[in-house]
Amino acid sequence: MPKRPKSPESDHPKVKGGPEESGRKQAGLGRRDFVKLVGGTGVAVTAGVLTKEALLPAESNAQAAAGRRGIGPGPVNITLRVNGEDKDVAVEPRVTLLDVLRDRLHLTGAKKVCDRGTCGACTVIVSGKAIYSCTMLAIDAANSSADILTIEGLAPEGQLHAVSAAFVDNDAQQCGFCTPGFVMACKAYLDAQPNPTYEQVKAALGGNLCRCGTYVGVRKAVLDAAMRMKGGRS
Ligand code: FES
Ligand code: FES
Repeated sequence: MPKRPKSPESDHPKVKGGPEESGRKQAGLGRRDFVKLVGGTGVAVTAGVLTKEALLPAESNAQAAAGRRGIGPGPVNITLRVNGEDKDVAVEPRVTLLDVLRDRLHLTGAKKVCDRGTCGACTVIVSGKAIYSCTMLAIDAANSSADILTIEGLAPEGQLHAVSAAFVDNDAQQCGFCTPGFVMACKAYLDAQPNPTYEQVKAALGGNLCRCGTYVGVRKAVLDAAMRMKGGRS
């Protein structure tokens, strides 16, 4: 008859005088006292969990989770404030601000090149800050305080903005594909730093790439635009 295998516990017998027992003894507890203490603590903890106060955070978390589940995956109605106007669109929460601007609002100045936050061709200004619109979800830009400015809204009266004019005069573009992103990045930069040096401009525009290599012209254009903006020509 085959031998019955030993249970795992039988390989680790609770030896009289072993670590468990010596631990209890060091704490001055006998087995009976130890069992009573553990049983009592267990009841106390359980009672604590079941109080109303203890349940409230869990309820709040569930409600918050339900709230999060309420958005998407289908289209949701949002309002974007773009170039001073409210635009109502229904978009899936996964859609980027760049795609809404280009495909839904037909503002195609911001370009989709890398679509992963490395080239700057999609740069727009949101609440005064230059951002890569390919890395921002449209729903995150949808609140009344987020003012979105695109290249189309830079000179609404049909006049060139000082930055755009400086780009033309300083030969700061070739194919022009990167230019709207550069202009918006320059505008946001000059609003924050109206008196930059050449080296500061060079560092500040490190987030925008130009395949045609117009960097020298762009830097000159920014310094020129700074002068024009100080002269009230922006
Ligand atoms: S397309 Fe957004 S950073 Fe390149
Ligand atoms: S002008 Fe052609 S990519 Fe910049």
